[in-house]
Amino acid sequence: MSEQQTIDLGEKLGHLLFKGAFVALKGDLAGGKTTFTKGIGKALNVKSVINSPTFTILKIYEGDLPLYHIDAYRLENNSYDLGLDEYADEGVMVVEWPEYYEDFLPDEYLEVRFTYLNDVVRDINFKAHGERYDNIVKEMTC
Ligand SMILES: Nc1ncnc2c1ncn2[C@@H]1O[C@H](COP(=O)(O)OP(=O)(O)OP(=O)(O)O)[C@@H](O)[C@H]1O
Ligand SMILES: [Mg+2]
Repeated sequence: MSEQQTIDLGEKLGHLLFKGAFVALKGDLAGGKTTFTKGIGKALNVKSVINSPTFTILKIYEGDLPLYHIDAYRLENNSYDLGLDEYADEGVMVVEWPEYYEDFLPDEYLEVRFTYLNDVVRDINFKAHGERYDNIVKEMTC
């Protein structure tokens, strides 16, 4: 996957997401999680630029559905209750570093795993946790 392909794949996923969808982005540092989220935003018609500013845990982007972009990296595995659950049913939830925010992971979610192969190439894999994501994984892997 090149950088543009990462964005395009995110866009493809964005078209398949629904209100209440939960996407967990796992894997390597600089693996392309934020880049992929830009593609999701494109599909949801988010007009503002999606980035990952230091020390911001949650950013909310207005689109066809609200996009809740969480970067849990700085939570560093502390068990905070940030009260983010209330957002989950309202739009699309995309979480980077869900490993650091385990309490927040719902029973059903889509896992996307990023592997850094070299400077410009990433591998991206999908895994459904719960039946409601089975079809999405099928679509994304064909
Ligand atoms: N094939 C690729 N896919 C995605 N990003 C790429 C690719 N090749 C190069 N890049 C570059 O790698 C960087 C990926 O950064 P990005 O912020 O998307 O990763 P991240 O997984 O969110 O990182 P972090 O773990 O710090 O949150 C960007 O600078 C991007 O331009
Ligand atoms: Mg990131």
